Amino acid sequence: MLSAASAPIVAATLPLVRSHGEQITGNFYPRMFRAHPELLNVFNRGNQATGEQKQALAGAVVAYAGHLLGESTMPWHPILERIAHKHVSLGITPAQYTIVGRHLLDAVAEVLGPAVTPEIAAAWDEVYWLFACELIAREARLYHDAGIGDPVDLWRTWRVIDRVTETADVFSLVLAPTDDGPVPAFVPGQYVSVAVDLGADRGQQIRQYSLSGAPQAGTWRITVKRLGPEGDRPAGTVSGHLHDRVGVGDTLRLSPPVGDIDAVAGTGPLLLVSAGIGVTPAMAALEHLVVHDPKRPVTLVHADRSPDAHPLRRHLPRLLGELPNLMVQLWYEDPMTALAPVPVNVGRVDAEQIPLDEPAQVHICGPLPFMRYVRSGLLRRGVPTERIAVEVFGPDLLRAGTA
Ligand SMILES: Cc1cc2nc3c(=O)[nH]c(=O)nc-3n(C[C@H](O)[C@H](O)[C@H](O)COP(=O)(O)OP(=O)(O)OC[C@H]3O[C@@H](n4cnc5c(N)ncnc54)[C@H](O)[C@@H]3O)c2cc1C
Ligand code: HEM
Repeated sequence: MLSAASAPIVAATLPLVRSHGEQITGNFYPRMFRAHPELLNVFNRGNQATGEQKQALAGAVVAYAGHLLGESTMPWHPILERIAHKHVSLGITPAQYTIVGRHLLDAVAEVLGPAVTPEIAAAWDEVYWLFACELIAREARLYHDAGIGDPVDLWRTWRVIDRVTETADVFSLVLAPTDDGPVPAFVPGQYVSVAVDLGADRGQQIRQYSLSGAPQAGTWRITVKRLGPEGDRPAGTVSGHLHDRVGVGDTLRLSPPVGDIDAVAGTGPLLLVSAGIGVTPAMAALEHLVVHDPKRPVTLVHADRSPDAHPLRRHLPRLLGELPNLMVQLWYEDPMTALAPVPVNVGRVDAEQIPLDEPAQVHICGPLPFMRYVRSGLLRRGVPTERIAVEVFGPDLLRAGTA
């Protein structure tokens, strides 16, 4: 809780901080990287370049201040969970909170200038540390649950035991630990971080990949879409590296599985809605049901450019056989119907036509505009917010309401 002295100051200055949020975080990152260049190996340089990370950090701090003041309508817990799980996937340590806090508050002072009195600086310092303490406590628990005593021991080495071409730009890697130790269980919807060394000049980069295979398989599978260059945007760094450089026999450093979204939550009907590479958590969910609850009513709605661009499509005929209550609704912009495992809809997904016969638990994953469209369509059709989980393959700009 904010102290009685700080609460009115934070309330009075929140509009100012909110309107300068991205300017502050835009000042913060270069400042922190100048003082701590080693952190360039921890942060995602793609998200720095596109500005998504500064948007996510500004959105989270403003949402937290609103939450402390009781002004926010946004549920707070999911925002905290998302950040804590992401931090744990990266091995963030409590000591690093001191570094971030110092540079973030210096950025506030520089961007807002003389408007920041010592009292205002102290009030926002309090907001930062209340947030930091909540995150540090939650992260400690998550490290403990993953069997990690010290975040420096996060990474484990895995060997690629198979590599499968799924589509022209998507491939899967099947991985087994090199130490022959146990393969940890995971909840469908969880992801791992993959750390890759890009050479002396480019250092290390870390990305997250959802586990796309059967949770009980004894190996892990990740399914990666290679991002090609598009207009002004360069090719994706890590997806390109994995595509071009990593094959059977190579090793990768992986985090334990984390992620707060359970793609098979609940026990009743399940609705999985995905587009493009966003199908990966849905496929882990279906593989999980084969073993744990094959009779559960489940609908997969998937949208893609065409059947031959649809990742992991090859598993659907088997899954339709193993899951008697699985219904698949496919939307292809270019149907090429001969390749589809079930009758298809032509065009982009129409939220009004998503089957909703019974109250279902919903999991959505795909590009942000797709998820926004599907979520608002389902809300309009009466699905309660708390039944809809949304997995964002990037900084989550949906939960803090920044997108
Ligand atoms: C929880 C989670 C689960 C995920 N699961 C999967 C999964 O199952 N499969 C999967 O394929 N991906 C998944 N992702 C996404 C994945 O983590 C990576 O973001 C993705 O592979 C792209 O990484 P990259 O290094 O190839 O691209 P990056 O180098 O990070 O680039 C990303 C984008 O930013 C643009 N960009 C980079 N630099 C600049 C610049 N200087 N100027 C303008 N634009 C720039 C690039 O052009 C590209 O479009 C997941 C992400 C999360 C958070
Ligand atoms: C109170 C303090 C902090 C807040 C509010 C905060 C907030 C956030 C948010 C909102 C995200 C995006 C989560 C998502 O993917 O949806 C994030 C990611 C991240 N955070 Fe923090 N964070 C804090 C402290 C730290 C610290 C101490 C570090 C360590 C250096 C750190 C490193 C990172 C990294 C590396 C990412 C992933 C970046 C990316 O993928 O672009 N954070 N954080």
